[in-house]
This record gives sequence, structure tokens and C-alpha cells, in this order.
Amino acid sequence: MSNSIPVPVAGASPAEILKAGIDAANGPVFLACSFSLEDVAIIDIAHAAGLKLGVFALDTGRLHEETYEVAEALSARYPLTIDWYFPRHEEVEKLEREKGLFSFRESLENRHECCRIRKVEPLLRALKGVAGWVTGMRREQSVTRNDLHAIERDEQNGGILKINPLLEWSERQVMEYAREHHLPENRLYKQKFRSIGCAPCTRAIGPWDHVREGRWWWESPGQKECGLHR
Ligand code: ADX
Ligand code: SF4
Repeated sequence: MSNSIPVPVAGASPAEILKAGIDAANGPVFLACSFSLEDVAIIDIAHAAGLKLGVFALDTGRLHEETYEVAEALSARYPLTIDWYFPRHEEVEKLEREKGLFSFRESLENRHECCRIRKVEPLLRALKGVAGWVTGMRREQSVTRNDLHAIERDEQNGGILKINPLLEWSERQVMEYAREHHLPENRLYKQKFRSIGCAPCTRAIGPWDHVREGRWWWESPGQKECGLHR
């Protein structure tokens, strides 16, 4: 359960939401960065507004090469350090030895197990000592994201703040912002990818498909969360 915290201005801009969230957190705030266009835009917005925002990334071990290229491009362009978190190697070794490299395709339970090991457990470590975290989630991305708030208290993670500055932006707004500001863009977007996660769980889709159709495409829309955002 997450509780909404009032944003100061109705219809606040992403920069205003970010600033309000950082002020309210009153401690270290980090962006959880998947190197999506949304997350890159947030880094740019924070940088332009002079806001102090750390960046961490969860390296699941199954990311695309193109995603790592974005990480390097960001490090070259902004004065930032990316705090990388890896899964516990014993857990990955056990999973792969016992169930193989594609167990996540076999059942929802197996998929959640892989996401728990590769994403959720590292996230818990990344959030230790953090007062607030920022995500690039947008409301229109998924039925599972309908009820989010721009700034929430994240009861799943000890009541720290969770800030979603692009919550009300459309895919088009994100793309326009990225083009206008010449942001580093994952090359996979040009190959018809529209939402990018781990390589074996992400594929290209058509222009009329739902934006997250290419994520865990063998599952139904209501199941498409990895556990980072419960
Ligand atoms: S997911 O839960 O389905 O994988 P999605 O790819 O839509 O999430 O990303 C939503 C937000 O979750 C991103 O904007 C980012 O804040 C966070 N996130 C997702 N994957 C990662 C990752 N590998 N490392 C850090 N943050 C991530
Ligand atoms: Fe594993 Fe796929 Fe989840 Fe990545 S998205 S952690 S590969 S199940």
C-alpha cells in the first residue's frame, strides 16, 4: 500500500514534482535507472533544475548491450556516478544450475523467482539508507500503474518516498522531450522496441500494440510487473 502525498501545484511539471519529492524526503534520493527514455529524461530534468539526485541501476546479468551503451553515454554527458547493483551470485548460480537459463518462460512462479533474484533482492540493498526513490513509471504504461501517485509513501519499502515525476506524461511527450534535448537513446527503440527490460523478456512490437506488449509477451497484462513495483 502506498499513500499519496500532495504535490504543491496542481498539474505540476516533472521538475516541480521531483523538487517537491526531494524536499519532502529530506535525505538521500536516488533514481532507479533502467536507462529507458523516461529515466534518461529524469536525469536530464534533475540536472537542468540543479537537483541533487543519485542514480542506481540493477544489472540483472541479462540486459542488452545497447542498454549498457546508454549507461556509458550518460556517464560521459552528466556529472554522475551510477551505483550498480548485481544479484547475489550464489542465488543466480543455484537458479541456473537447477532450472537452466530460461526457467522464467515455464511458469509465472519461475518468472517471479528470476525477477526476485535478479531485481528485487538487489533493489532492497539499493534502497538501504535512502530517503526516497524516483522511477520513470507512467500511468498509461499498464493497468497495474493506474493507481499510482506522483509522490507516494512506499510502505513496501519502509515508508520511504517514491517519486514518479513522469506519471502523467504520454509516450509521445517523453519522445519529444528526448529529441528536443538530444538525449542518449537506446538504439533498440529504432528497432521497434518500446519498453526495454531484460533481453530474453523483451521484444519488438508493432506501432498499434500496447506499449508493454513486448515485455513478458507470454503473460497477461495484469501480470506484467517484476516485483520492483508492487
Ligand atoms: S519493470 O518493473 O516492468 O521492469 P519498467 O521497465 O517499466 O519496470 O521500468 C519502470 C521503472 O522501474 C523504471 O523507470 C526504473 O525507475 C525502474 N527500473 C526498472 N528496471 C530497472 C533496473 N534494471 N534498474 C533500476 N531501475 C529499474
Ligand atoms: Fe529474469 Fe526476465 Fe525478470 Fe530479467 S525480466 S529478471 S530475465 S524473469
